[in-house]
Parts: sequence; structure tokens; C-alpha cells
Amino acid sequence: MTVSPLPYPLRLTGTGVILREWRWEDLDDLVALLDEPGIARWTLMPSPFDVEAGLAYLRRAQQGRIGGSRIQLAITADGGPPLGEVLLFNVHSEGHEAELGYLVGLPFRRRGLATAALSLLTGYAFDALGLRRLLLRIDRGNTASTSVARRCGYRPAAEPPIQQDGPYGPATLDTWEYLENRSGPQDDRRKNVAARRYGRR
Ligand SMILES: CC(C)(COP(=O)(O)OP(=O)(O)OC[C@H]1O[C@@H](n2cnc3c(N)ncnc32)[C@H](O)[C@@H]1OP(=O)(O)O)[C@@H](O)C(=O)NCCC(=O)NCCS
Repeated sequence: MTVSPLPYPLRLTGTGVILREWRWEDLDDLVALLDEPGIARWTLMPSPFDVEAGLAYLRRAQQGRIGGSRIQLAITADGGPPLGEVLLFNVHSEGHEAELGYLVGLPFRRRGLATAALSLLTGYAFDALGLRRLLLRIDRGNTASTSVARRCGYRPAAEPPIQQDGPYGPATLDTWEYLENRSGPQDDRRKNVAARRYGRR
């Protein structure tokens, strides 16, 4: 079973984070999170990221959510202010595949938030949506992101690299995958990695 359209609204709780829908009141926090060179460098987000960009971003997120084509959730500690974002998009129902992405605001990094959010959405995509192959496209220079992917049980896929031109010059994106047949030990690992970060089992 692959759910189509994707469920909306959605609130996912576990691994020490709450993933919730974006709200219009998040605009100032969103701009503060995304107006940062590290985000622009690795995600090709507009830079500078101003209020106008923020409004367009929230509008597009809402369209994608209501239309059921993507999951795009704010990462929060307790359902309050957004600390980052995690997404699921490019769903191919026939192949039971989708792509995921994530970012965390500069002041909130190195606390396990990306690991927790990716773990939670990966689990949801498998258990609730019936997806069987999840993909990440990561610039091979982005060590923070490849570490997060690895921690969540993703592995480099046997796919040719994707060449992309951006404001920082040519980039090479590698594909990382999370597969159904890893759902034994990897699944436990997915749950435990983030739980350990928050002192829970
Ligand atoms: C990549 C990103 C989402 C990681 O978010 P995060 O919440 O800091 O990640 P975590 O805290 O879950 O990190 C897990 C592990 O990844 C590794 N890691 C994270 N940031 C790192 C960095 N800057 N350098 C090296 N390793 C890093 C570490 O091993 C870390 O564990 P540790 O803190 O115990 O050492 C964040 O750096 C970011 O938003 N970057 C810009 C946007 C981006 O690159 N998005 C991904 C596009 S593919």
C-alpha cells in the first residue's frame, strides 16, 4: 500500500522531536532559519532568504501539503517554534519510492535533531505509507548530511552521481538509499540512535 494523496495534516511524535505542519505564524522563524549561508550552500535555497522568500516558501509548502504531493514538516522540540524542516517528495507509487530532505537551523545543530527527524519520517514512510525505497541526494562534500544519513541507516546507492550547477559552482550529488530489506537490524538502529541522544530507550 502506498498512500496517495499523502496524509494532511500530519503530526509525528517520537525519537525526541515533534514534526508538525508549517503555520503562517512561523514566517519570522522560518526566515531566521533559512537566511544562512550553510543552508544556501547545500540546499540551493535563495540567498538572502527574506520575508518575501519566506512567504513564497510557506505558500508552496501549503500547496504541496493540501495537494498531497509532499510531506513538509517543521522540526520542533515540543510542537512549538520550528528548529528545522524535514521533507518527503517525488513519490513514485509504482516503485514504492520517495525522496527525503532535511535542514536544521544553525543555532540548533549538533543536537541530534536531523537524525531524530529523518529517523521518524523514515519510519513513518515505511510503516504508514508503505514505501519501500527511500532516497537522499547529498552533495559529496556535505559531511554533516552524509553523517546524518549513515546514522539513520541509509547507504550509498549504486546509482550514477548527479551533476548540478549552482551559485557555488558545479556540485556532485550522490544517491543514498534506505531499503526494505534492511528493516530488521536497521530498523532497531533507526529507533535507538535518536532515542540514545535523548536518553530514552
Ligand atoms: C546536515 C544538517 C541537517 C545536520 O543537522 P544536525 O541536526 O546538526 O545533525 P545531527 O545533530 O543529527 O548530527 C548527527 C551527526 O552528524 C555529524 N555531523 C553533524 N554536523 C556535522 C558537521 N558540521 N561536521 C561534521 N559532522 C557533522 C556528527 O557525527 C553528528 O553527531 P555528533 O554531533 O554526535 O558528532 C545541518 O548541518 C544542516 O541543516 N545543514 C545545511 C542544510 C543541509 O545540508 N541539508 C541537507 C541537504 S542533503
